[in-house]
Order: sequence, then structure tokens, then C-alpha cells
Amino acid sequence: MPDSILAKVRRWGAARLALLVWLASAAVMPGLSAAAPPAPAQPVAAADLRAVFATPQDIAEGKRVALASCTSCHAVTGIALARGTPHIAGQRPAYLYAELRVYQAGRRGNNPMHNVVKFLSDDALVKVAAYYASLDPAPPAPAAAKKAASKADPVAAGEAAASGCSGCHGDNGISETPGMPNLVGLDAKYIADATVAYKNGQRKHGMMKTLVSALSEAEIRNISVFYALQKPAKAKTPAEGNKEAGKAAAAACAGCHGQGGVSTGTAPSLAGQDAQYFATAMNAYKTGARADAAMKAPAASLDDKVIKDLAAYYADQAPQPPRVKKPMTTEEIADRCNRCHGVDGNSTDPRTPAIAAQRVDYLEPVMRAYRKGERKSTAMTAMLDGMSDEDIAELAVHYASKKARSVVYVPVPTKP
Ligand code: HEC
Ligand code: HEC
Ligand code: HEC
Ligand code: HEC
Repeated sequence: MPDSILAKVRRWGAARLALLVWLASAAVMPGLSAAAPPAPAQPVAAADLRAVFATPQDIAEGKRVALASCTSCHAVTGIALARGTPHIAGQRPAYLYAELRVYQAGRRGNNPMHNVVKFLSDDALVKVAAYYASLDPAPPAPAAAKKAASKADPVAAGEAAASGCSGCHGDNGISETPGMPNLVGLDAKYIADATVAYKNGQRKHGMMKTLVSALSEAEIRNISVFYALQKPAKAKTPAEGNKEAGKAAAAACAGCHGQGGVSTGTAPSLAGQDAQYFATAMNAYKTGARADAAMKAPAASLDDKVIKDLAAYYADQAPQPPRVKKPMTTEEIADRCNRCHGVDGNSTDPRTPAIAAQRVDYLEPVMRAYRKGERKSTAMTAMLDGMSDEDIAELAVHYASKKARSVVYVPVPTKP
């Protein structure tokens, strides 16, 4: 870096910095500064940016520190080979320095890094951060790239996982076989809970238990969302009972199952349900074979004729789409992360970590630690709040598969 710029940076200390970013793997693009993030809102303490302004001599000294203290785990290349050890090559310099300070202060608890850095001087931390930041980043993990492509869209994944269900439940969950329930018009949570209940034997049905026993939690969730997003229609199956008589009897059910069998609460919708399944379910509640506190009393006093009439009435009602939020794809979630972490996780802010091509076995536990609040970052805990382990696993694979780019920072004071 030319001495004149360095001298200015020192002179203006905490001046606001506009960052000109040069992606190492691309040609120098004069127009790129337009895409650089806005200058930080608060003045940045110059001390925190020392690693950004390091000279080649500083970097050489940093390499000596690394050889003495870091290379057994992070390698001289900064590309770690051991599980759970992050790649730090090409990582952003001010972030590396800030992290080293956190470990040194013992604010990450009983961490292998604490003992390594506790006796190093501040100057050594700045230089070793500058050294690792100056290196070429790790290549993306090829295995991660393959995995990322196959798991990105939860609704598409749900459709694929539900392919074996349509033989009985009909295409897109609209039943064509008497005795097989419609799966459309039902709340996603009800479908998921019912499937889990078959799986753990709480809802007794040998065949359904076998059919769903191999499904993972994520597959069940994706299948349920897939069915809840399908356009509902009545089951294409016959109903024998008397609809008019059924309508009168259904007055007792509307409080829980809604007007016309379109539920707005936790009870399942009944509109458009297959009549034979409906009758089987009512009889199961009656005998207690299907145990449910809410349904025990309503079912107890009904004879076969009333059940058939109710079944015919509900089968004739038009089902409505349940309220369901289409879950974001991994790509859509990542768009939000990229607002801070840069395009495909290539941060352009020297204080925000790059996460492209990072090891999956580092990214996953780190994200879980933020979610739990074990590793402190208000922004990160807020971002990951409510995400499942699967969401986190998919984000980790997503970023591990991205190409990492190193950057060179050229500080330019905004005003003399
Ligand atoms: C005994 C093995 C070991 C040694 C030696 C070691 N590290 Fe680490 N380092 C780790 C592990 C494991 C982690 C992940 C810890 C965590 O999850 O917080 C880590 C994390 C880091 C991080 C945080 C990276 C990030 O993306 O947040 C930095 C920076 C770092 N090390 C730099 C260094 C430097 C510089 C040295 C030498 C002064 C060094 N390490 C020596 C094992 C080691
Ligand atoms: C061989 C036929 C068959 C296949 C294949 C099948 N099911 Fe079923 N399913 C049934 C029958 C029969 C019932 C009614 C069981 C009962 O009486 O509890 C049922 C009930 C259900 C219910 C409860 C519906 C309600 O309204 O409470 C859900 C949810 C369900 N199945 C989901 C699935 C999923 C998901 C798959 C695919 C992984 C699947 N089923 C595959 C036959 C099948
Ligand atoms: C106090 C609230 C309540 C009332 C009143 C009630 N239900 Fe239910 N019903 C439920 C709940 C909750 C479930 C889900 C139970 C389960 O998971 O097995 C249910 C389930 C059902 C099912 C099974 C649906 C399926 O997809 O598997 C049928 C059929 C049914 N009710 C019919 C009726 C009829 C007919 C009446 C009126 C005679 C009635 N219910 C009254 C709460 C109620
Ligand atoms: C508002 C800005 C912001 C957003 C949005 C954001 N992050 Fe972060 N992220 C940060 C900052 C700042 C840190 C460093 C915090 C620290 O010092 O521990 C960080 C740290 C991380 C780390 C640890 C990196 C390492 O090397 O240790 C990972 C992994 C991560 N973020 C992933 C994500 C993912 C995935 C998302 C989207 C779900 C996301 N971030 C959204 C600002 C953000």
C-alpha cells in the first residue's frame, strides 16, 4: 500500500472510510466501487482497523507468529484440515483481529483458542491477522455443492417426498379412493402432527405407521407444507348419506370444525373429506380406538345413520386453502444473510466475516451457538431465531459450496 495513503489514514485516524474493493479473483473493475457498502455509520476506531493497513513487513512478521503458534491447527495456508477448525485464509483482517481479542479476553469460554493467544501481544495479534487475511482463501467444498443443489427448496423437497403418498391419497392430496382421506384443505400443522402420531404409535394404524416410519422430521414438515399449498378440492369419492339431515346434525360440530367444515382453529377442517374415511374416524373415536379428548363426547352418542349423514354433508362442502406461509428457500434466506456477509458470503466490510467456502463442520456449530445465544452477536441471534437445525444445516452447506474471494481494501478519507 503506498505510504502516502497510509500516512493520510494515520493522520485522519477515525475518519469515515470509503472502501474500494478489489476482488482478487476478478480483473480490476473500475465500476465496482458503486457496489461497495455504504461507509460505516459510526466512525471506526483506527486501532480496530490496523490489520487492514498492514505493510508487507507487518505481514512477514505475522507469518512468523503464525509459524510459532497457529500452524499446528490452521496450517500455514490458513486452510484448516481438522473438523471444527475454521479456514482463516483470506478472512477479513479487522474481523480476524477482533475475534483474536475476544478469545484473548476469554469471552468465548473454555475454548482451545484462549490458551493459544493469551500471551501474545496486541501487535502480534494485528500482524498475524494481517498475515492470514493476505492469503488465498480455501476452494469451495465439492461435496457441499452437490448437496446444496438437491435440498434448496422445501416445497419441491416435500413434493418429492410425497410421491409415495399419492397412490392412496390421490394426486396433490385429492383422494379418489373411498376410505383414503383427502390431505388438501388441512392445516400443515395438523398433517404434520397426524403423521408424527402414526410414526410414534400414538395414533394406531399399522399401515400408516409403516409408510411414514422412515420419514425425517424435515421430510414430514416439507410434505405437510406441500399439501397445505395445494389447491383444495372435494374428494372424488361417493357418499351415501343424507346431506340435509347431516347439515342439521353438524350444528353441534361447527364450534370446533367451523362453518361448513372450514376450521379456523386447531380442529381439522372437514369440508370435502372422503365420506368413508369420515365414518371410520367417527367410529374410531366412538370405540376409543382413536383416543382424543375433544372428540370423545361428540362422537359417543351418534348412531351409524347420523354418522353417514354427517359424512355426506361434510363431503359436499367446499374445502378452502388453509393459511400457510410458503417457507423461504435456502437461496431466499441467504439473500438476507448476504446483506451483511456480501455476495455469496464474500464480505466486503473488513469487520464482517466472509463465510463463503468455510468448512461445514465449523459453520453449523457456530450458527447453533449464535441461535442459543452462547456465542454473542445481537444481529446473528436475531437472524437465526426460530430456524430449525435443518435450516442451519442447509445454510452451512450453501455457503460451504460458494467460491470465496479475497479482497484488498484501499482506504480513502472522505474529506481532507
Ligand atoms: C489447538 C488448535 C488451534 C491453534 C493452535 C490455533 N487455533 Fe485458531 N481456532 C481453533 C479452533 C478449534 C477454532 C474454532 C473455535 C470456536 O469455535 O470458537 C479456532 C478459531 C479461530 C479464529 C476464529 C475464526 C472465525 O472465523 O471466527 C481465528 C481468527 C483463529 N482461530 C486464529 C488463530 C490464530 C491467529 C492462531 C495462532 C496465534 C490460532 N488460531 C491458533 C484452533 C486453533
Ligand atoms: C397404502 C395407502 C396409503 C399410503 C401409500 C399412504 N397413506 Fe396416509 N392414510 C392411509 C389411510 C387408510 C389413512 C387413514 C388411517 C386412519 O384411519 O387413521 C391415512 C391417513 C393419513 C393421514 C391422516 C389424515 C387425517 O385427516 O387425519 C395423514 C396425514 C397421512 N395419511 C399422510 C400420509 C403420507 C404423508 C403418506 C406418504 C408418505 C401417506 N399417508 C401414504 C393410507 C395411505
Ligand atoms: C370440542 C371441539 C370439537 C367438537 C365439538 C367436535 N370436534 Fe371433531 N375434532 C376435534 C379435534 C381437536 C379433532 C382432531 C383429533 C385428532 O387429532 O384425532 C377432531 C377430529 C375430527 C375428525 C377426524 C378428522 C380427520 O381428518 O381425521 C372428524 C371426522 C370429526 N372430528 C368430526 C366431528 C363431528 C362430526 C363433530 C360433531 C358431531 C365434531 N367432530 C365435533 C374437535 C372437535
Ligand atoms: C445484520 C448483519 C448480519 C446479518 C443479516 C447476518 N449476519 Fe452473520 N454475522 C454478522 C456479524 C457482525 C458477525 C460476527 C459476529 C461475531 O463477532 O461473532 C457474523 C458472524 C457470522 C458467522 C460466524 C463466522 C465465523 O467465521 O465465525 C456465520 C457462520 C454467519 N454470521 C452466518 C450468517 C447467516 C447464515 C446469516 C443469514 C441467516 C447471517 N449470518 C446474517 C452479521 C450479520
